[in-house]
Amino acid sequence: MTEAVHAKEGVIFAQLWHVGRVSHTALQPQGAAPVSASAIATDRVSVFIETAPGAGALVEPSAPRALTTDEVQELVQLYIQAARNAMEAGFDGIELHCDNGYLVNQFISAHSNHREDQYGGSLDNRLRFLREVVAGVAECIGKEKVGVRFAPLFTTTDEARTYLGMVEEDPHATYIEAIKVLEDVGIAYLSIAEADWDDAPMMPEDFRRAVRSTFSGAIIYAGRYTAESGAKLLDSGLADLVAFGRPFIANPDLPARFAHDWPLNPLNPATMYGGNAEGYVDYPVHSE
Ligand SMILES: Cc1cc2nc3c(=O)[nH]c(=O)nc-3n(C[C@H](O)[C@H](O)[C@H](O)COP(=O)(O)O)c2cc1C
Repeated sequence: MTEAVHAKEGVIFAQLWHVGRVSHTALQPQGAAPVSASAIATDRVSVFIETAPGAGALVEPSAPRALTTDEVQELVQLYIQAARNAMEAGFDGIELHCDNGYLVNQFISAHSNHREDQYGGSLDNRLRFLREVVAGVAECIGKEKVGVRFAPLFTTTDEARTYLGMVEEDPHATYIEAIKVLEDVGIAYLSIAEADWDDAPMMPEDFRRAVRSTFSGAIIYAGRYTAESGAKLLDSGLADLVAFGRPFIANPDLPARFAHDWPLNPLNPATMYGGNAEGYVDYPVHSE
């Protein structure tokens, strides 16, 4: 796959995830409990499990157990090994998935992290797992080959609007501190997922400005952008790149369509997650 991308002069990063508590005993070795910063279950999020060969269902996550301090340090080493594996597989770099309520988020939020060791308590301690993973991976493969993805405003104090079960008292302050960790290591880019559902809150301008002044690497935003709104964001000077998710799924030739102002294929949400090749390799390119 990486060779095919390089043959077309593309660049490809592997995104590394650990979902932590957003999991289920059915997905764990020997039916064990999922792991997290603390033994605190999440809600407002479902996990996909296999119910029979080729069939699955969305279910509530299982209650997690807390990682021991030694296990947290082993996980840092596993991230480093995963990054090394990705480089050996021909990727140009790796992106650490640090959002959507997954493991790194579970350490950052005081609501999901009640640890009493050096990985819990103060914000500085709650950022320690992120810091060790980012620094360890950067040292192993080169900081210029590392990106991080955050979704700072998916976390909110408003339980009713909580996405993927994450609650954060002060997302602005927390994530600016987290971005300082990335700046200290000097990684290549920060990719920010904006809220992307209907009637989602807008990313406040003051947050974008704070991100810009805190991080000197490339800044990418994604979430419901169009060619026009993306260009506007770039013109504002607050971003270096705009990323497209769903429009790219439905339009394999998206850059050409933007460049020529061609109409976009509509997306079929039914084929978006999982299943088979349908919806992944069969959207037509533009023909005149
Ligand atoms: C089918 C699908 C799968 C996705 N998988 C991931 C993923 O693995 N990692 C990630 O960081 N974001 C993932 N996203 C979120 C996108 O990266 C992006 O933030 C989101 O789709 C909003 O951008 P859009 O409005 O241009 O689609 C996924 C989105 C979709 C629709």
